[in-house]
Amino acid sequence: MSKVSGLQKPQGAPRLVALGISTDEVDPLLAFFAALPPQVTWAIVFTKPLSLVQLARLKEVLHKSGGPILEWLSTGMRLAPGRVYLPPRHACVELADEAFVLSPAPEGETKPMHLVDTFLLSLLGRDPARTAVVCLDRVPLDGVLGFQQLGEAGAPIFLRPRQGLARRKGQGVLEPGRMPAVLARAFEGETAEPDDSAALDRILGLLERTCHMEISAYKTDMLARRITRRMRLRRHDSFYDYAEALAADPAAVAELYDDLLIGVTGFYRDSEVIQTLRTKVLDPMVASCDGQKPLRIWVPACATGEEAYTLAIELAESFEAAGRAPNFRILASDLRQSSLDVASVGLYDVGAVETVPEVLRDKYFQRVGGQYAVRKSLRAHIVFSSHDALVDPPFLQLDLVSCRNLLIYLNPEPQARLLSMVLFGLRADGALLLGQSETLIRDQDALEVIDRGARLFRKRGDVQPRPVPLPEQDLPQGDPLKLQRPRLGIGLAHRDHVVLNGFDAVLRRYAPSSLLISAEGEVLGWFGAASVLVRKTDGASLRTVEDVVHDDLQIPITVALEKLREGPFETFVRVLKVELAGGAPGRVQLRFEALDTAGAGPLLLVAVTFGDGQTPVPTPQTAPEAEDALFLSRRVQELERDLRLTERTLQHVTERLEATGEELLASNQELQMANRALHRDNHGLNHSNAAIRAQAEDIGLYANGLEAVLDALGIGFVVVSAQGVIHRVSAQLAVRLNLASAPEGLDIARLGLGPDFDALPQVVQDVARSKRPAELSGEGPGGTLWLRVFPQIGPSPRDPQGDAGGDGVVLVFHWPRGP
Ligand SMILES: C[S@@+](CC[C@H](N)C(=O)[O-])C[C@H]1O[C@@H](n2cnc3c(N)ncnc32)[C@H](O)[C@@H]1O
Repeated sequence: MSKVSGLQKPQGAPRLVALGISTDEVDPLLAFFAALPPQVTWAIVFTKPLSLVQLARLKEVLHKSGGPILEWLSTGMRLAPGRVYLPPRHACVELADEAFVLSPAPEGETKPMHLVDTFLLSLLGRDPARTAVVCLDRVPLDGVLGFQQLGEAGAPIFLRPRQGLARRKGQGVLEPGRMPAVLARAFEGETAEPDDSAALDRILGLLERTCHMEISAYKTDMLARRITRRMRLRRHDSFYDYAEALAADPAAVAELYDDLLIGVTGFYRDSEVIQTLRTKVLDPMVASCDGQKPLRIWVPACATGEEAYTLAIELAESFEAAGRAPNFRILASDLRQSSLDVASVGLYDVGAVETVPEVLRDKYFQRVGGQYAVRKSLRAHIVFSSHDALVDPPFLQLDLVSCRNLLIYLNPEPQARLLSMVLFGLRADGALLLGQSETLIRDQDALEVIDRGARLFRKRGDVQPRPVPLPEQDLPQGDPLKLQRPRLGIGLAHRDHVVLNGFDAVLRRYAPSSLLISAEGEVLGWFGAASVLVRKTDGASLRTVEDVVHDDLQIPITVALEKLREGPFETFVRVLKVELAGGAPGRVQLRFEALDTAGAGPLLLVAVTFGDGQTPVPTPQTAPEAEDALFLSRRVQELERDLRLTERTLQHVTERLEATGEELLASNQELQMANRALHRDNHGLNHSNAAIRAQAEDIGLYANGLEAVLDALGIGFVVVSAQGVIHRVSAQLAVRLNLASAPEGLDIARLGLGPDFDALPQVVQDVARSKRPAELSGEGPGGTLWLRVFPQIGPSPRDPQGDAGGDGVVLVFHWPRGP
């Protein structure tokens, strides 16, 4: 048995409260900390440095209350529960994988606004149910981007009440002293407390001992979630209480075990993948199948059977499309007994078969009351058996392994072990199908990609597989949770076929009139006059009792088969009236006998005697009424079983919802990483935009200052294109010239300088062409004006390509300074 000790403790990340307050506020800070629940386990991280006064007062409060420990945060420090973290000044703090990362604040980003945003945005990858933001600023300016995005992700956000503040979804507007209590409630309703790990270990140990399950192989957070779910259903509040209850009640442990392995599955799950599998693997496989050896497929975590039946349908269709008799065997296994029971029966609700294309549903299922039963002809291709894919040796000589949605629940080492087993079982060139959220972590060199999107691989023929790292433990003996070995599995080599055909010929000649039927209900042969009780089969390779035997014999044979499966079997006789060909009723005696086939499973021999008046039919030993009663009681049992199945289906549906979440969680991790990267880029862009805005503001200020200086000196300017179009007029000049509206875009002649300056347009053109400055003076609006016209050198910043380029001119005006 593997050890639980050394098992990873559940990594329930501490609940994190990001807390911001401006340095001039003390009371809200003290009110918040004074109201913290005793022994609070949150990690509280200040998003900005505190003032000395705030720090001194906070220390006092924490000292008095015996509250969380105060620490300066530093790079590499891991987030721990029950701590208050303070950031150093001017540092940019981020949280990555629950550890702090500090870096110098980039130039221009030393303002609290940027630093708080950076920290808050780094929390976006965390579980929002374990992350909250408390903003105690009088006006929430710093980190607005951060807490908007965290709020959208579902993290609780708390603000102080203030006038005119629009309340947003997910934001709690509260007095600081009330925030901790509401926050505590917001944090409720999650999985285990980190300090519950000892009790959780105890539960895992109980499971491992009782159920012979290698518990440490599975991801602890998945187990913790499943245990928490069952614990809540059992109305326990803590792992400790639940562990106590489990220790006292083995049935409760079995119930938990049954719950633990997520059995979510479905017909045609990821239907595009099934389509790809069909075209890229199944059809070519069927085309190259030699017709002797059946194709062998293993489904190592088949759950309630839908995946195995889906593959069976697609294979049957592929064989039919190729015009050949179906010749394949699917070995479908799982660890969970209750799932295998459902799979074996092959009875599904309407909702479950909805994903099967309608024509295939009608072809391969039969309506039974409100449910659909897999037709026996399809069922007969599949052997369901109990098998621990991590411990039991793999099936061998496999053409395809469909191992979907098991790896995601396993830790890396058992994942690698399972993949090695699968590789060992596959023949060279055999195919491997994984689940949509699963990837290969090793043995990459032993496999080549058939279709990456479908997670479809092929075992390379030229690579030696690595040894299979089987755990050092005995196979479980007499495990009550295990099903018996596969029921009937007669695999015939070609030579055996020849021998059997010989036997067949002998039997047809000498055997008494009889039918030979497998325990699965397949009619293996019929001899002598019994052939009149067998319908024509049109060359189908599988002949079930239902398909080929006379209707009047169906019930007694079904009863006999049930007895045979249950064993021990006692020979018995039935006499029936049978309507033979031509409508003539006749009496038939059936003698049911079990044939022992030396370990290959029992067969049913039905010896047939016709009561035609020549051969007297002996009186039956068992009254048919008694048999019918027996049969009816079996039907009642079947109905009860169906009822149990319905209950399980309900649980299955619930699990489907939950575990879709589990699988989503796995693929979400990738998405979250991408999301974080996106946010970082986005954040960078926001910062750049802000920097550009700040620069623009600075330039604006600078320009205003410059204009004020020019004005004081009695100087103004106009930028004009070579064509005489005005591009810019300095502000004070515009005032002096009484320009009511913006002159930009107007012709220079419209500047309104007066008749002394009529030559100005021509002068502008001359200067632009000759690149030599010129001077003008005269009476203008508001008095005498001196004007110098300079050629513009270099491209215009406003229009680097256009007509205001280096060909333009600048008019510099000078007017007498005022008193
Ligand atoms: C999510 S279901 C996957 C069902 C199906 N393969 C599919 O993808 O639709 C996972 C199954 O793995 C089974 N399982 C878990 N551990 C196993 C093990 N060690 N050996 C065999 N089956 C296992 C569970 O019982 C459960 O039925």
